[in-house]
Amino acid sequence: MENVFRSRNRTKPIVYHLRDVTRDRASEGVTFRLRVPSLQITQGEKIALIGESGCGKSTLLDMLAFIAQPTDIAAFRFRPDEENDAIDVAHLWKKRQMNQLGELRKHHIGYVMQTGGLLPYLTVRENMALSRSVLELPPDDTVDSLARELGIARHLDKLPETLSVGERQRVAIGRALAHEPPIVIADEPTASVDPFAAEKIMSLFIGLAEERNITVVVASHAWRHIKRLGLRRLAHHTHRSQDGRTTETVVNG
Ligand SMILES: Nc1ncnc2c1ncn2[C@@H]1O[C@H](COP(=O)(O)OP(=O)(O)OP(=O)(O)O)[C@@H](O)[C@H]1O
Ligand SMILES: [Mg+2]
Repeated sequence: MENVFRSRNRTKPIVYHLRDVTRDRASEGVTFRLRVPSLQITQGEKIALIGESGCGKSTLLDMLAFIAQPTDIAAFRFRPDEENDAIDVAHLWKKRQMNQLGELRKHHIGYVMQTGGLLPYLTVRENMALSRSVLELPPDDTVDSLARELGIARHLDKLPETLSVGERQRVAIGRALAHEPPIVIADEPTASVDPFAAEKIMSLFIGLAEERNITVVVASHAWRHIKRLGLRRLAHHTHRSQDGRTTETVVNG
């Protein structure tokens, strides 16, 4: 049998392979369903999920980061590096191996949260170093050099509240990159700044990811400036039932 992890591109392994994965969310009689019939993301790819508020962007990213449990899975395999075989994420969820899922996330994924997620009582330097200290990585100059590249080196010893929103978003990006993960998932990393600043931050982020051959999945409302950076857009469509009680978004790519 042909190895499914090399079927699309012979030189690049497939990092994410999902088939018929869904997640249902219900509140107050209204149901939302995200359905992924088929999704494959190869190593080093830069993917964008663009869509209106509520269409399920964060839901998909949280599943890719093993934060949100799918309701149904036919297949969900994850292969963060070429040296190792693919990991059967469907099996880990089924057996509720939360520690293993947490370890996978910690080691292989950087996450830029929609709300920034910086800890207010830690300095910028400590916030950026957090992903490294969780893994007990030795102190080195990674945080300093990332801060220089992101243009926030002069803020390293300040608290996040003394920074502008755009600067805080750069810190959040730096934190997601500091432990040098092979995959970075970014949930609207430029949501709270003007379009000009958004384009600058996004292009900095994609540039840093490109240099490091990082696989990127980014969610955003705005396609224009992301398109210019050469990201692959995931196809999706959202369907609402006539009574408005059920919404389903289907993502393929
Ligand atoms: N905790 C929850 N419980 C029940 N339903 C939820 C919950 N969080 C979100 N939803 C529903 O799931 C759907 C998708 O939400 P999601 O956060 O993935 O959207 P999004 O595309 O990220 O939106 P935004 O652009 O506003 O961040 C929404 O319609 C929402 O109503
Ligand atoms: Mg969201």
